[in-house]
Order: sequence, then structure tokens, then C-alpha cells
Amino acid sequence: MIAIPDELTTTMARFGDKGRAWLRSLPPIVDEFVDRWSLTLGSPFPASYSYVTPARLRDGVSAVLKVNFVDRENVHEGEALRRYEGRGAVRLLDADDEAGVLLLERCEPGTRLSQIEDDEVATAIAADVIRRLWKPVGAGHPFERVSDRARAWAASVPEEFERLGRPFDTDLAERASALFAELADSSDEAFLLDQDFHHYNVLAAQREPWLAIDPKPLVGDRAFDLGALLRNPGPQAFEGRDPGRVTARRIDQLVEALGLSRERIVGWA
Ligand SMILES: Nc1ncnc2c1ncn2[C@@H]1O[C@H](COP(=O)(O)OP(=O)(O)OP(=O)(O)O)[C@@H](O)[C@H]1O
Ligand SMILES: [Mg+2]
Repeated sequence: MIAIPDELTTTMARFGDKGRAWLRSLPPIVDEFVDRWSLTLGSPFPASYSYVTPARLRDGVSAVLKVNFVDRENVHEGEALRRYEGRGAVRLLDADDEAGVLLLERCEPGTRLSQIEDDEVATAIAADVIRRLWKPVGAGHPFERVSDRARAWAASVPEEFERLGRPFDTDLAERASALFAELADSSDEAFLLDQDFHHYNVLAAQREPWLAIDPKPLVGDRAFDLGALLRNPGPQAFEGRDPGRVTARRIDQLVEALGLSRERIVGWA
């Protein structure tokens, strides 16, 4: 029997019958892949949207077994990692894409980038890693496009704004909607993007000093891919500092390091 982390049980309860059915299916799925890949498992990492646990292969190599609750965001996680080929991200050792089961290279010691206190140092590391992840994608990929997503977001902003009880100035909501549409229509870049690149998804490792995990791949404008980083870590990390100034300095640093348009980075974020 496997131990299920509390946060995973809590998140899955929010998905009702579908979440509970997935939780019930988890032990046999894990058993099946332990058998198929000859794994020995350790205690699971705390994670809310997937079952993630350290594993050891028969030859003693350390790995991580990840079982996703497959959804629109993570359905192509394996394909993204395959295409990264270990450059800036963990290697995909094996996978069953349809079942959402991934066998990953393990990052050791696995310290999160969020542990780096000096924000300038953390931002420099993040820029180095994300630069390695971005690669142009040709035709025939399975990923959704940022521009299509952004057009849908543009259309959904007014409705969401009402649904949430108009939480801020109407002007701001209108600007957000217009920006999504504008950004969607003003770039034809087609890079493989991570979409979930932030301080909790970059871990200290050996093969490269830091490696990304957990991509939710899309294809499009690189400037889009800095949004998650700029919104993280949460406000608690800014304690005693002016969040506006920290963010402005991060943006300066990212523009300088990556040579992308400041306007587009700020717009997407
Ligand atoms: N390849 C790896 N090497 C070492 N540790 C890992 C690896 N993959 C995942 N982990 C650990 O498991 C945690 C959860 O993994 P991941 O982010 O992929 O899952 P998740 O479902 O998106 O979790 P969360 O909801 O917390 O983001 C990570 O924060 C990390 O501590
Ligand atoms: Mg994660």
C-alpha cells in the first residue's frame, strides 16, 4: 500500500468523483509501473496535483516516479521533457504518456530555487536555466499555442471579473483583456515554452547545477514564459522589501540577460 500525501487527497476532493476515482486507481497504477520498470520506492514528496515519489532503478540509479492526474495542462509534460533532452530540465527516463506516468531523473540534493535568498542571484540562475529550455518548434507538435490561449483569456476576462464580484477597477480588467488580444496578435514566435517555470519548479542538481521540473508546455512567444517567475515566490518572500522595486529590478535583469522586449514581458506577466 502506498502513502498518499494529505495535500493530494485535499486537492483531489475538489475534483469530486473524478478526483476520488483517480485516487483509488493510484495504488494499482503505482504497482504496475514499479513492476514494469523494476523500481524500489521511497516516501512521496508533498505534491498537490500528482503523486511524486523518489525511486531507485534495479541498477541503483536514483529516479523519481510521477503519476499525473491528467488534464489539459499536463497532458504533454512527457513530450516536453523528451524534447528538452535533459538540457536545462530533468531527463525523461521512461514514460507512459497516455497514463500520465513519468520516470524522471532525480535532482540531488533537489533544493528549490526559492531557497536562494538573494533575489538577484536567483533571477540570474533562472535566466540561465530558461534560456536552455527554449527551442524553436517546427510543424507537427502536439502543444497548444499561447496565442490561442490568450485569445480565449481575452474573451473570458469580463465574465471572470463579474463572477469574482468586480475585485478591482473595471479599467484594469478592460486593459487586461485588450492586452491579451494585442499580445496574441503581435508575435509569430514558435518556441517550446514551459508555462510553469518558477522558483518551486527549479531544483539543485549534479549534471547541471539547476534543472527545471514540471513543465506545462505551450508553444509561442518567449516573453510569455517569464510570467510565472515574476509572480513567484508569493508575497511572503517580499517581506520587508518593496515588491514593486523587487519586481522592477527582476524585469531589468531578465531583459538584459535574455534580450527580450520589456513591454512584452510586462504585458504577459
Ligand atoms: N526529478 C525530481 N527530482 C527531485 N525531486 C523532485 C523531482 N520531481 C519532483 N520532485 C519533488 O516533488 C515535488 C513535486 O513535484 P512536481 O512539482 O513535479 O509536482 P506537482 O504535482 O506539480 O506539485 P506541486 O503541486 O507542488 O507543484 C517537487 O517540488 C520536488 O520537491
Ligand atoms: Mg510543481
